[in-house]
Amino acid sequence: MEAAASADYGYLRQLVFGVSQNVLDPSRDYLFETRLSKLLRNQGMRQLDELVRSLRATKNPALERAVAEAMTINETSFFRDSRPFELLRTELLPKLIEERRMLRSLRFWSAACATGQEGYSLAMLMLEHFPALANWNLRIEGTDLSSEVVSRAQAGRYHRIEMNRGLPARFVVRYFDHSGEEWTAKPEVRKLCNFRQANLCGSSLPFHRSTDRFDVIFLRNVMLYFAHETRRTLLAEVHRLLAPDGILFLGASEQPADLSLWTPVLAGGTSYYRPRKAS
Ligand SMILES: C[S@@+](CC[C@H](N)C(=O)[O-])C[C@H]1O[C@@H](n2cnc3c(N)ncnc32)[C@H](O)[C@@H]1O
Repeated sequence: MEAAASADYGYLRQLVFGVSQNVLDPSRDYLFETRLSKLLRNQGMRQLDELVRSLRATKNPALERAVAEAMTINETSFFRDSRPFELLRTELLPKLIEERRMLRSLRFWSAACATGQEGYSLAMLMLEHFPALANWNLRIEGTDLSSEVVSRAQAGRYHRIEMNRGLPARFVVRYFDHSGEEWTAKPEVRKLCNFRQANLCGSSLPFHRSTDRFDVIFLRNVMLYFAHETRRTLLAEVHRLLAPDGILFLGASEQPADLSLWTPVLAGGTSYYRPRKAS
């Protein structure tokens, strides 16, 4: 495949930004060729410039979305950066459970859930360490821009290589069914999770602050793809969706753009954020 012209790359970068707010660095333009090769094949096209010509000629939101989705980086693993999970287990969840004992409900959001390992890690953590919550209303919502990874999260099926990343052996045995090289999360794990496609930067997230308040939000390893202003707007929305005593985890190298809404707390070798009262 011949390399596309720089105007084509510029057009594609702009398109991706328009759909997903992901800022792609021109130094990584070469990634368009590899990431879009499957999409090109499916469209019966051979070169990137054919795709760009078609996108320029006719407004095609489905194709634009497919381009933006293909450019996402879906790297994840079970119990990624284990410290937030450890802190939840030892300190944060016991307190939260005490605070919610009348309501008997806990809601988690794995925002930018990729293929679902983060959500299933939370589900296994609850089942393994908090069996007394069996008759509580537990819900783990997972959302991601990419419909392909959301389908994989919904299937809850993982290859041996994915299972070998971060998952304790006893969890593999206890919470997965095994067939050949693939493991599928058991119904008791899957029933706690609900995965769906949603754009964190779109006009409407599938949640309402009056009915869908979350107790814990994981918004990890996605804000690094966004511009400063996008991060600010998203964190204001996350603030509205988090309970006043709720907990926000960001990725290890991320922090809120606007600390006026958040109190950072350092604990257990990691940090998390408590919402401040909005003034
Ligand atoms: C690197 S993964 C992080 C997965 C998981 N949170 C973790 O930390 O392991 C980033 C995910 O963000 C998703 N993403 C990127 N832009 C998004 C957007 N605008 N809305 C929703 N998800 C987005 C990508 O599809 C990708 O699956």
